[in-house]
Amino acid sequence: MSEAVLGIIGGSGIYDLPGLSDLREERIESPWGEPSDTLRIGRVGTTKIVFLPRHGRGHAIPPSEINYRANIDVLKRAGVTDLVSLSACGSYKAELYPGLFVLVDQFVDRTSRRESSFFGRGCVAHVSVAHPVGPALQGRIAAAAEAEELPFVRGGTLVTMEGPQFSTYAESMTYRGLGYDLIGMTAMPEAKLAREAEITYATVAMVTDYDCWHELHGAVDVASVVAVLHENADKARRLVARLAADFPAEREPCPAGSHNALDNALITAPAF
Ligand code: ADE
Repeated sequence: MSEAVLGIIGGSGIYDLPGLSDLREERIESPWGEPSDTLRIGRVGTTKIVFLPRHGRGHAIPPSEINYRANIDVLKRAGVTDLVSLSACGSYKAELYPGLFVLVDQFVDRTSRRESSFFGRGCVAHVSVAHPVGPALQGRIAAAAEAEELPFVRGGTLVTMEGPQFSTYAESMTYRGLGYDLIGMTAMPEAKLAREAEITYATVAMVTDYDCWHELHGAVDVASVVAVLHENADKARRLVARLAADFPAEREPCPAGSHNALDNALITAPAF
């Protein structure tokens, strides 16, 4: 296996990653268009870190306009093998309270106007995303959260909506009734593209609100999300620092098959 390189995608409220040594900024060209920002590349101890703020600095890019393909492509070109996505999310369960980190393991894609594959006419491929999160990477995140004494739970299903509006009450009740745990606007198609790029992926869903279903809480608004995010951002940075400090030097094989996802995925004949 190759050198392990840890990628971090910062979501709402996380636009930089202080504490990296040997820090430099790099703009990497992508045939898929403009990524959200330049990459910030540095180290924690001996672990190489590549950071990208999903919404760009100043949060200028809305979820539907993020170029997810360019983002994953430039991270891949920078050598990222393992990618941790930090995302603010609404909660459908009373016990998943604002401030909690949920290490989700499943996604439901309810997005409708995003490019969600690197493949297409002329080069057709179907990767498996049955298990979209790398369990070993998630285990390392759990160990880091434990070491930092951060409140977290492991497991959960995150539905990704198109946005930018938050859900209606009927949508919120429907998703809650279906047993989903969390809702956000960005995990898809990021997770699918990471798998196509053979990058091991895991999401840390940072709960910011109860969306609009909870009778004791008002409907979610940006002010309440931002208030929780300010508290969460510092916890997220501690989590990443600990994860990086304890990260292995070599890429580990992924039990979910991220490292060789394309081995049996291409269907177009090579000579075509
Ligand atoms: N991000 C944070 N809270 C959210 C919510 N309730 N719905 C969608 N995305 C969110």
